Amino acid sequence: MRLVSPVLFLTFTLLASNAGHIPPGAAEGESREQKVWVRAGSSAVLPCHLSPRRMSKSLKHLPDMTSVLWKRHGGSAHQEPHMVLEVEPSGLRKSALHMRSRVSVQDSALRNGNFSLRIDPVRSEDAGLYEARVTYNTEVQSCQVELGVITVTLSPPSPVIENEPLLLSCNSSHRASLVETCWFHNGCLIPTSRTFCSLPGALSIFRPAMSDAGPWRCQLRYSDNEIISTTYDLQILGFDGPTNPVVYAAAGSAADLPCTLSYLPSAFGINMVTAHWSRLAGGHLQDWGISQNLSSRSFPLHLPVVWPGDAGQYHCAVSIGSKKIIRDVTLAVITVTPSIQGLVSEGSHLLLICSLTHPQGHERFQWKYLDSAPTNSKVAVATSRNLEGHRSQMGPTLEILQVSQKDTGTWECSVYGPEGRLGAAQYGLQITGAQVSSPPTIFSGQVTFGLTLTLFLLLTVCVLALAMQKKARPPAFPALEGMFAVTVPWKKMEEKQKENMQQTEC
Ligand SMILES: *[C@@H]1O[C@H](CO)[C@@H](O)[C@H](O)[C@H]1NC(C)=O
Ligand SMILES: *[C@@H]1O[C@H](CO)[C@@H](O)[C@H](O)[C@H]1NC(C)=O
Ligand SMILES: *[C@@H]1O[C@H](CO)[C@@H](O)[C@H](O)[C@H]1NC(C)=O
Repeated sequence: MRLVSPVLFLTFTLLASNAGHIPPGAAEGESREQKVWVRAGSSAVLPCHLSPRRMSKSLKHLPDMTSVLWKRHGGSAHQEPHMVLEVEPSGLRKSALHMRSRVSVQDSALRNGNFSLRIDPVRSEDAGLYEARVTYNTEVQSCQVELGVITVTLSPPSPVIENEPLLLSCNSSHRASLVETCWFHNGCLIPTSRTFCSLPGALSIFRPAMSDAGPWRCQLRYSDNEIISTTYDLQILGFDGPTNPVVYAAAGSAADLPCTLSYLPSAFGINMVTAHWSRLAGGHLQDWGISQNLSSRSFPLHLPVVWPGDAGQYHCAVSIGSKKIIRDVTLAVITVTPSIQGLVSEGSHLLLICSLTHPQGHERFQWKYLDSAPTNSKVAVATSRNLEGHRSQMGPTLEILQVSQKDTGTWECSVYGPEGRLGAAQYGLQITGAQVSSPPTIFSGQVTFGLTLTLFLLLTVCVLALAMQKKARPPAFPALEGMFAVTVPWKKMEEKQKENMQQTEC
């Protein structure tokens, strides 16, 4: 088995290389017919070279009496062989009217004994047998080349729009019956499935995605065992970037939501493009029109300042001609909430909670202490100070057990994903008497979490004190005393909560 597989592989390789083109180097000798396969729309070179032996013989004579006549045999529309291109000894050129702008032989190549005919671009009706008669000094040579054309057709025609059903078909000028068609995308054989369906010679893609763009190869096998293949580079007009992009922005900062097409529509001759952003928030529809700019394929939505209430899903709808494609973009807002609102006095216990409105589940948080001057923040990142001494980071929460003067300055919470840093929010910590300079974005729930923690500690102390009292002098109504001990701190907390609410409303 181990011996067999390399042999099989070699056989396959040989078959594969013989299937398409015959190397043009083997193009010598009189009337030795060659076959060239090209895809309609690309360029073809029909090889015709003077053999090296004839070349050296010919060079002994006085040079520059070259004439070339390329003719085409048959073809259904043309019964008689007819002239395609002629180069007279004087250098005068003639060419068939219907191929005039598409056929050429190179002057510089002629002097080197290369009489190859170039057709650019090839059309499917160019398929057929071509013959060249060449006189080069004293030598006479003829070449015969069969041109086979493979046609790849897109339906509807290019450009292919993302999610619009597409039929890709392959056809060739080979006159035998088609036995099998195989399709390869990026070198992989495509099995017929629900999303890809192979009709004879055709492939239908029900919902083309951006991942379907790129080289497609069709391989046609005929009843005479001829195998012909060609590659087509499928371009899909859709959106650039990930399918469900998430934009992370700090509360109080600006955000730009991306909406970028994979190609400039004008490159496909489409000049009717409009973009429209919308968002369904609290039962009403917000929308933004994006002014049309034909020299741009990008239609971002700029939000000058975002708050947690702005977070959520935004839709970018781009109309391309009569088709419309939509991309959803999620805005996730990063907020830092301190456990102490307002003044932070030295020695107090502070929690900074970093939260994200739309977590995707893969985010990590990292706290950093930046310089007290936020302008140099990038230069003065002091990561080493991060977890030193009395601070600790538990996921999104930074805990400072005892706030000291050294902690004054900017704290930054960065959000990281598998692809790197996604965004960051900052908090300016000012101690004793100074106002907190961070944007006043407070989630009352998170503030009360900090309060609750402090009050819980207070409560524990109370209960402990009571228990010690109890031990000293057993009470007559233990249940009542217990209730008393419990209710008082909760009332206190409610009061504090009310105070806090008033603070936030201001
Ligand atoms: C011969 O000339 C054609 C253009 O007419 C060119 O494409 C081809 O590469 C040349 N062949 C060689 C072997 O130089
Ligand atoms: C395929 O090509 C052949 C020969 O060029 C032509 O007769 C036939 O109509 C084509 N079929 C399709 C489906 O285009
Ligand atoms: C259109 O977009 C291009 C590239 O983004 C920009 O340079 C140009 O100023 C824009 N034109 C208008 C009228 O907005």
